[in-house]
Amino acid sequence: MKFFVDTADIKEIAELNETGLLDGVTTNPSLILKSGRDIKEVIAEICTLVDGPVSAEVGATDLEGMKREGSILAEIAEQVAIKVPLTWDGLKACRYFAEQGRMVNVTLCFSASQALMAAKAGAAFISPFVGRLDDIGQDGLALIQDIRTIYQEYFFETEILVASIRSPLHVVRAAKIGADVSTIPYKVMRQLIEHPLTDRGLEQFVKDWAATGQKI
Ligand code: E4P
Repeated sequence: MKFFVDTADIKEIAELNETGLLDGVTTNPSLILKSGRDIKEVIAEICTLVDGPVSAEVGATDLEGMKREGSILAEIAEQVAIKVPLTWDGLKACRYFAEQGRMVNVTLCFSASQALMAAKAGAAFISPFVGRLDDIGQDGLALIQDIRTIYQEYFFETEILVASIRSPLHVVRAAKIGADVSTIPYKVMRQLIEHPLTDRGLEQFVKDWAATGQKI
């Protein structure tokens, strides 16, 4: 499974990128707001740091606006995946950009039927929001399983990009289902390797090693 980070914070991206474990980045209007930066500037900077797809979302909700804004975002770099909402106009914009050979990430997906439509519109990525479904008492990961089943049945190439991740458990369960990508907040990315037994074990090893008086 590929790991994207869900942030527009350059410091977070740079730090995670150093691990060599980062396959891409996703942003959205809320994350751009949080960054306090101009979208074109920050997306361009992210593209200089990371090799993989960088999702940049249009602000417009009408087709012409999405085409105009998507074209501007697409000019930043080849690796920019144009992110559009899962609406009729969003799906038309998806088809428009996909026909030009551009990656499109269709976002705000909350149902299997929506995911099916996005795949038919030529999306490179579908972004189902698992955390927000869990928040309203539904099973976000059951949706990932449904989409996996449907895409497999019809050989859709659209990648399942699990979004709105809240915990390491979301990542592990998404991996077990066979999701293609998880886009993970910085905090959860750090939690992925945390375990109290690792900390306790290391502390003991450090102590015992010092007691041997040896050096390597
Ligand atoms: C996905 O692309 C979105 O940017 C993101 O995962 C939404 O997550 P949230 O529900 O934590 O805002």
